[in-house]
Amino acid sequence: MEVVVCPSSEAAVTLTARLVEAEIRARPTAVLGLATGRTMEDVYAALVASGASFAGVTTFNLDEYVGLPPDDPNAYAAYMAHHLFARTDIDPDNTHLPDGMADDIARAAEDYEARITAAGGIDLQLLGIGETGHIGFNEPLSSLRSRTRDKILTPTTRAQNAAMFGGDPERVPARALTMGVGTILESRRLLLLACGQAKAEVVARAIEGPVTAAISASAIQFHNACQVVLDAEAASALQGRDYYDFIVCNEPKWDPHRDLLEIAST
Ligand code: GLP
Repeated sequence: MEVVVCPSSEAAVTLTARLVEAEIRARPTAVLGLATGRTMEDVYAALVASGASFAGVTTFNLDEYVGLPPDDPNAYAAYMAHHLFARTDIDPDNTHLPDGMADDIARAAEDYEARITAAGGIDLQLLGIGETGHIGFNEPLSSLRSRTRDKILTPTTRAQNAAMFGGDPERVPARALTMGVGTILESRRLLLLACGQAKAEVVARAIEGPVTAAISASAIQFHNACQVVLDAEAASALQGRDYYDFIVCNEPKWDPHRDLLEIAST
């Protein structure tokens, strides 16, 4: 794992967007795994502004609320259309989200896994982190081998996401269809972005704590190609920050991307 700490959230967002952009410029037919949440909104804005072509790109989102039609403004399908898909040249047929309106949710979950496999797997999976330590909607005690399935959302998550539902946690759907932790770990590369003081504690537990199903994001420690981009606030509870900074400064594989690090440090 590589942890890159940027001085501001703007810099962390810029670096994350540039890393995704570099992936699709290097591999125009990349399969991207996408995340939602407020943190990602600026990443998508930066990607749109980059002018990079998504014409050959295929996407799979991590999750979708159960029971919200795709055109509901709070559905992640609507979020993705608004923030990214409608603003790029991506072929809508190549964009995938779990079907939270399916009559048979278990079958929709299996179908989603099959679609990921048929696309050849995910090259780069973008991740945020929830205050419960979830990636996707893998709430605490999700099996670290879990596959796409529906999960009940914790009161903490419904409170965290209530702002998008008029501030009322009761209006946040109770369940979501989410890629499993095992599904996420099969992506060839992981890129997790977290910003803000509210994430500091859970970020430290995910990166430095024991691997535990109580913090599903801690499973990223099993992945052999995982980058974590943080702003200074989200990094503020880390014990090993000096060492992580040392690695980034001395790691030759960053050399071709020094320009990215410079962007991120300003
Ligand atoms: C939702 C998504 C997660 C995301 C999280 C973070 O719960 N299901 O994938 O990581 O939001 O949200 P925010 O960026 O708004 O803090």
